[in-house]
Amino acid sequence: MTIQWFPGHMTKARRQIQDKLKLIDVAIELLDARVPLSSRNPMIDDILQAKPRLIVLNKADLADPRATDRWISFFSARGHACMAVDSSSGTGVSGILSRVQDLLRDQLARRAAKGVKPRAVRGLIVGIPNVGKSTLINRLAGRSIAATGDRPGITKGQQWIKAGPGLELLDTPGILWPKFEDQEVGYRLATVGTIREEILNVEDIAFFALRILSDRYWEALAARFGLEEAPDDPDDTGEIVSLMEEIGRTRGALRSGGLVDLEKVSGIVLRELRAGKLGRLTLEEPPAQ
Ligand code: G4P
Repeated sequence: MTIQWFPGHMTKARRQIQDKLKLIDVAIELLDARVPLSSRNPMIDDILQAKPRLIVLNKADLADPRATDRWISFFSARGHACMAVDSSSGTGVSGILSRVQDLLRDQLARRAAKGVKPRAVRGLIVGIPNVGKSTLINRLAGRSIAATGDRPGITKGQQWIKAGPGLELLDTPGILWPKFEDQEVGYRLATVGTIREEILNVEDIAFFALRILSDRYWEALAARFGLEEAPDDPDDTGEIVSLMEEIGRTRGALRSGGLVDLEKVSGIVLRELRAGKLGRLTLEEPPAQ
């Protein structure tokens, strides 16, 4: 889903989530494990306030497992419960329930002490578009939930979905916007395919991706595309263009006259990266604590 975010949309999105917060015990903040910070809403602490929160790093199947561990440590050190899942296959998803119960242990004990009849814990999944909110909801529900509320102009009453023993979720997730002001954030999101290519130029995205990959995952890149020599300086534009040309020649992405078709090369690099053909990659590291 592509959403054009304008200030009015952001205010509305924020208000919608804040209305839903009144109904729930816990927020599940979904991030993309390959770009945890870039896929994070810049105002999330302000929006969720003191609501108990579980951070879930989704698409962990596509992310570098060691980097994912570092991100989990980073968020844990900041006092957040955090875990990684792959909502597509379901790996790790069953752990969400126990993490949520841990998080609410004191609250549940207080309710029980007051003699309040136990009821299912109520949660809301929040995250930017394409981070995997619907996939996770469907996975937790064990069936396909049509999220009609996502489409502008279509409203319906809130519905609770049974998401496992003792957990209910609101059927429509909270949709948040990423940090647009930062260009690098936009390129990281575009590289993993979260922002559609119409917004940024495909060659610019591939150029950005190759710069990061030659710096962080040179061996995987070289093995996939049969590259010979790592750039001395990944920030050197000329060296990255040479890499693109080398890829174009090995993959036969040529125009008439033998010139490398950079647009075609860009498409190949991005498609294969997003499909996990270069292995499990994470594009950003946690900031120093
Ligand atoms: P949203 O509700 O947050 O907007 O995201 P949605 O669930 O629609 O997921 C966006 C894309 O991410 C989908 O792919 C979905 O299959 C994929 N996805 C979600 N979770 C995971 C995960 O844990 N691992 C992997 N590898 N992919 C995940 P799509 O290409 O848009 O659609 P489709 O190919 O699944 O039809």
